Amino acid sequence: MRIGVLTGGGDCPGLNAVIRAVVRKGVSVYGHEFVGFRDGWRGPLEGDTMPLDIQAVRGILPRGGTILGSSRTNPMKIEGGVDRIKENLAATGVDALIAIGGEDTLGVARQLFERDVKVVGVPKTIDNDLSGTDYTFGFDTAVNIATEAIDRLHTTAESHHRALICEVMGRHAGWIALHAGMAGGANVILIPERPFDIDRVCEYVESRFRTRYSPILVVAEGAHPIEGQIALQAGELDAFGHVRLGGIGEVLAKEIEKRTGKEARTTVLGHIQRGGTPTAYDRVLATRFGLQAIDAAHEGDYGKMVALRGTDIVRVGLDEATAELKTVPVSRYAEAEVFFG
Ligand code: F6P
Repeated sequence: MRIGVLTGGGDCPGLNAVIRAVVRKGVSVYGHEFVGFRDGWRGPLEGDTMPLDIQAVRGILPRGGTILGSSRTNPMKIEGGVDRIKENLAATGVDALIAIGGEDTLGVARQLFERDVKVVGVPKTIDNDLSGTDYTFGFDTAVNIATEAIDRLHTTAESHHRALICEVMGRHAGWIALHAGMAGGANVILIPERPFDIDRVCEYVESRFRTRYSPILVVAEGAHPIEGQIALQAGELDAFGHVRLGGIGEVLAKEIEKRTGKEARTTVLGHIQRGGTPTAYDRVLATRFGLQAIDAAHEGDYGKMVALRGTDIVRVGLDEATAELKTVPVSRYAEAEVFFG
């Protein structure tokens, strides 16, 4: 078989580990050939390929980013996009595709599968918001980066008696904030799933100062106050209709200063959470996903996404995996709330 591989959407640590596992097992165990498509769905859309053999994947296991490049190109929004992809797959002699991505990339994979493209999905995202899998790779690395940042913020906050806010990514899910905030002993964690009450947040801040400790607040980029409390500006949209988030940390700092009279500063971690080398956990998860993905492609089990269930790697339907976002349940937030204030 000749199998195409692509990585789409926001990158994350572990993408190269998946590519390596797919190619290593695909060549050495099954004798398949591979073609790399550059920059997500733009690759098959424009027929932009690169060689992908064992030599090409040597040494990439610990490297962040993706050797294939990525983009947020949405072929479903482009006139004749599906036909162009089909033509380019035929022209490059590709029998099946392995698409490594999050809800957007795998949403396209699902729609292509419904139009007879043979595709297997692999779930990646630092946001950990894909249904059907307990964890996505990239998440553990992002949480570790954010936790280290929070640890560092604690010590400088104490010296200067400031409230320090750490804004993390996660889009519409609060998983990174929840895990990093819990691991880093944050005094308040704000997530998109639970609109926050600014008066309550300020009470937490003040009670923390009264104990002679400095408050550390972790805020997910998608967190927002309860309706009408603070006016927020709307951001621009990407090709999948997602609003570009970021800035809630600054808004929060201003409100806290205004309402409590205490100095508050914000650190926005941004893309630092997505860059650099994956943790050991993410390397292993990504490698196991890659091994399962090439097995699925070899067996002709298309329209599936590989997934982690407990400690097992299983296959779930792309339709189930992309039906709805996996957000933080109320009970998980309640666990963290015990430590607020
Ligand atoms: O989905 C991963 C993610 O990092 C989100 O947490 C964030 O909202 C978004 O991508 C940022 O995307 P971009 O790098 O395209 O601005």
